[in-house]
Amino acid sequence: MNITHIVGARPNFMKVAPVMNALRERKSVVQTLIHTGQHYDVNMSDVFFQQLGLPTPDVNLSVGSSTHAKQTAEIMMRLEPVVAERQPDIALVYGDVNSTVATALVCAKLGVQIGHVEAGLRSFDRTMPEEINRLVTDQLADMLFTPSIDGDENLRREGIAPEKIFRVGNVMIDSLVRLLPLAKKTCVDGVPERYALVTLHRPANVDDGARLKGILQSLLEVNRDLAVVFPAHPRTRQRIADFGLNSGQLCLLDPVPYIEFLGLQSRAAVVITDSGGIQEETTHLGVPCLTMRENTERPITVSLGTNVLVGGDPGKLRAEFSRVLSGNAKKGAVPPLWDGHAAERIADILVRQAVRQSSAAR
Ligand code: UD1
Repeated sequence: MNITHIVGARPNFMKVAPVMNALRERKSVVQTLIHTGQHYDVNMSDVFFQQLGLPTPDVNLSVGSSTHAKQTAEIMMRLEPVVAERQPDIALVYGDVNSTVATALVCAKLGVQIGHVEAGLRSFDRTMPEEINRLVTDQLADMLFTPSIDGDENLRREGIAPEKIFRVGNVMIDSLVRLLPLAKKTCVDGVPERYALVTLHRPANVDDGARLKGILQSLLEVNRDLAVVFPAHPRTRQRIADFGLNSGQLCLLDPVPYIEFLGLQSRAAVVITDSGGIQEETTHLGVPCLTMRENTERPITVSLGTNVLVGGDPGKLRAEFSRVLSGNAKKGAVPPLWDGHAAERIADILVRQAVRQSSAAR
């Protein structure tokens, strides 16, 4: 069986690594890795490949940054001849970035089967580009691997046939489980012993000058009680400069490699973020997470985990932060199947499915 993995952006890399590892153990499988080049900075891409033990991509489409339409279209144009030539039995796509939806569109029209890893998540907020990517990808996918039961329910409600849906758990947690022992031994220069870890990059938070200014003010307030450590996405750093904003005494860092960032999360008193994956990682680590969004496509991190949605309301952030300082932060549990073995379940299903198809063809 010929499996092609297509990835492009930072949050894809820790998801593809465990799936490639699990499939490497299956003798009947030949794997190809395609990088769209959506993320291209050394510290947004290369360093993740090294730390996760990913092979050098067989193909790099080097699309780079642009508007959503241009970036998606560029990926489609460059990917189409590659997929047409290689004709994989199945293309595996990950998460909800522009590379995911672009690949799904190309493969669906070339008649190549698509497997979507991290299917079924919904924020029900179509102003988020990722929500559009999730909706389209799931409609086109032939096999939908979900991380939690809400994913199955969303897909069934949208009319996806139940036999296409496989609840396997969370592959991102597979990477966390594997590399956490190493992560705990790392340290990052300039980071104090007790701190609040911050990441922000969503357009809704950083592309509006007034909103970003308000957020920085709230973080400066937090910083009076607890040092704020803020590895900034290139987009965020750019916006702070564009709007002429002042990050004052906040400890702004360049993006941190995967293993060091896991270490920073595991030791943080609290994490303040607008990322998707970090809501999941903090839930697994049992670290309090305050999410600066009005909604989440990962509701299980709120219902079971340590996540609290504070939206853009500085009052709510302050109140939840006080709970953390007074030792009363929300406690949580690890969701079912977030056990470090999700990728093995995916590999089992793919191989089983291939055997079924080849005996049906005979
Ligand atoms: C993308 C994903 C988002 C994910 C995030 C994680 C989409 C729609 N969004 O957002 O879901 O949470 O990745 O990081 O796919 N840039 C660099 N170097 C890079 C990559 C980007 O400097 O290696 C800068 C460029 O100025 C670019 C901007 O960051 O314009 C945004 O990059 P882009 O890939 O368009 O989206 P992200 O904000 O990274």
